[in-house]
Amino acid sequence: MPLRIAVIASGRGSNLQAILDAIAAGTLDAEIVGVWSDRRDAFALQRARAAGVPAHLVRPRDYGDRTGHDAALFGAIDLAEPELIVCAGYMRLIGAAAVDARPGRMINIHPSLLPAFKGLHTHQQALDAGVTEHGASVHVVTADLDGGPVLSQARVPVLPGDTADSLAARVLTREHPLLLETLRWIAERRLVLTGSRVDVNGHPLTAPLQLAANQRFA
Ligand code: GRF
Repeated sequence: MPLRIAVIASGRGSNLQAILDAIAAGTLDAEIVGVWSDRRDAFALQRARAAGVPAHLVRPRDYGDRTGHDAALFGAIDLAEPELIVCAGYMRLIGAAAVDARPGRMINIHPSLLPAFKGLHTHQQALDAGVTEHGASVHVVTADLDGGPVLSQARVPVLPGDTADSLAARVLTREHPLLLETLRWIAERRLVLTGSRVDVNGHPLTAPLQLAANQRFA
């Protein structure tokens, strides 16, 4: 059975597009049951509509507080019965109640090698710290911001003369295959999320899966 995925996104939606393209190409056994956004102008919504996927706007201003918005958003998502909720550039904090009610059912792609550089402006954080290696992580969403178990990572070098933009662009080229490969392993039930527990091939995951240059996990 194809993995039923809901995607939430606030912006450009290039990670969403990578998922849509992989499903269309037959390289990811999944179905996107809907795309949800908190922003009317999110290009992700246009990408969903262009692919014939239901696109939904749930605006924070229409609800009194974060809890109310979360309840409306995730209540609507639940009706579509996804197995997995993928945060792909969703730029709002999600309250603990919404996260805790869906243990092991939400993942996020974050542009750093977690636990380094949580939060925003990760590429500038990496430059400021002077690291020689940067990258992206896919992790389980928990109530701890960018702090849930890390499933997988892809690495890029930081090069002399890099700016936050050049580094972001290099990381993004690795984010897409990283997210797709992680989703493939979940779709194939090789990677199983149960609450905050993660099993890989029937054993506890002890370190993040590493995306190799040939775009398979090492
Ligand atoms: C990506 O860098 C992702 O890691 C971060 O937000 C960005 C979303 O990009 N969480 P896109 O909207 O998928 O193009």
